[in-house]
Amino acid sequence: MEFSDVEQDLTEIVLTEDQIKGIIADLARRIEADYADSPPLLVGVLRGAVMVMADLARELRIPIEMDWMAVSSYGAGTQSSGVVRILKDLDTDIAGRRVLIVEDIIDSGLTLSWLQANLATRGAESVEICALLRKPDAAKVEVDVRYVGADIPNKFVVGYGLDYAEAYRHLKGVAVLAPHVYS
Ligand code: IMP
Ligand code: MG
Repeated sequence: MEFSDVEQDLTEIVLTEDQIKGIIADLARRIEADYADSPPLLVGVLRGAVMVMADLARELRIPIEMDWMAVSSYGAGTQSSGVVRILKDLDTDIAGRRVLIVEDIIDSGLTLSWLQANLATRGAESVEICALLRKPDAAKVEVDVRYVGADIPNKFVVGYGLDYAEAYRHLKGVAVLAPHVYS
């Protein structure tokens, strides 16, 4: 879906499809350099990270594996609840593995700091994080995000996997959602 298809629901474009492509390529080059010697297990966080994972994985020119987790932190609203629940766990035993969590966005950081700690208790050799987008509040939480695609303003955004009440995930770029949609 294009920005123009939902123009009235958006106030500002944050990243175009082309810009995202460039960001993903930069992330991939850094990840390739760091994981050349031992293939990472990419852990995508459903459902928001589906687009990042699909594009990042295909851009990577080293062996990788993929697995998925589903956690809930937001429900249908626009504010983090602080409560993280595992809805779908990994199928892979990560003992001794180099794990790279792939996320769409880090906002409060609650979801990722919890997830990183959880995976670290399973005996992984390392648990790093790659997030396409980062909001300013992420700085308040102690979560070490090794790879960040882009820093964005503290506004509720949709597109490229990011939803509002399950809508807009299939938008090709990322844009700020107009307040009239959720107020
Ligand atoms: P955190 O725990 O506050 O860092 O939130 C992480 C999760 O909240 C992300 O994986 C997204 O699913 C969701 N989220 C945070 N900010 C936004 C946004 O601006 N739009 C859509 N979803 C968001
Ligand atoms: Mg998410």
